[in-house]
Amino acid sequence: MGDSNQKSGMSRRNFIKGLGGGIAGATAIAAKTGKAAQEGPHGAMVVGAGPVKISLLINSKKHELTVDPRTTLLDALRNDLDYTGTKRVCNKGQCGACTVILNGKTILACSMLALDADGASVETIEGLAQGNKLHPLQEAFVKHDAMQCGFCTPGFIMSCVSLLRENNQPTLDEIKNGVAGNLCRCGTYPNIFKAVEDAATTIKKGG
Ligand code: FES
Ligand code: FES
Repeated sequence: MGDSNQKSGMSRRNFIKGLGGGIAGATAIAAKTGKAAQEGPHGAMVVGAGPVKISLLINSKKHELTVDPRTTLLDALRNDLDYTGTKRVCNKGQCGACTVILNGKTILACSMLALDADGASVETIEGLAQGNKLHPLQEAFVKHDAMQCGFCTPGFIMSCVSLLRENNQPTLDEIKNGVAGNLCRCGTYPNIFKAVEDAATTIKKGG
């Protein structure tokens, strides 16, 4: 162990000294910039932007909140505002479970900073039902048994809401294309496609 430290040119003593230098450096930067050094992860002193106030219009209701600049829109929705219908599954933009509609377009809430959504209109699964009446897509998902564990379901439904707004009679291929960014590990795809076709017919009839 001592040998490998010598090879890398870094002894334990020097490493600990370096840490002390880092803290002193952060304090010096703070003094120069006038920004307060704060304790970050693992006790490291950091200088940078602190919490920021933002406002979000969620399902037509205005919310004002203060977020750390690193907070994703998904974490702001779930942790700060209790909109837990939007799911965190992969948390890296690969599964679509966190899909919401932002200013009319679907986005992945895990891949957007809450700061970047400041002032935006956000639609989540909680905003679809009108009182006790479910949205036609929600009803069709139940009718066609288009969910098993349900973790992917809110994301699929928000993608399908957006699809049917743009195209109220999609073909099967267009439905598949519309949900191409959503993954269902339970394999409910055939039932999801039937549900979307059914909901499209209901919406077209004015349901
Ligand atoms: S949780 Fe956002 S894409 Fe998977
Ligand atoms: S219903 Fe379980 S992942 Fe889709």
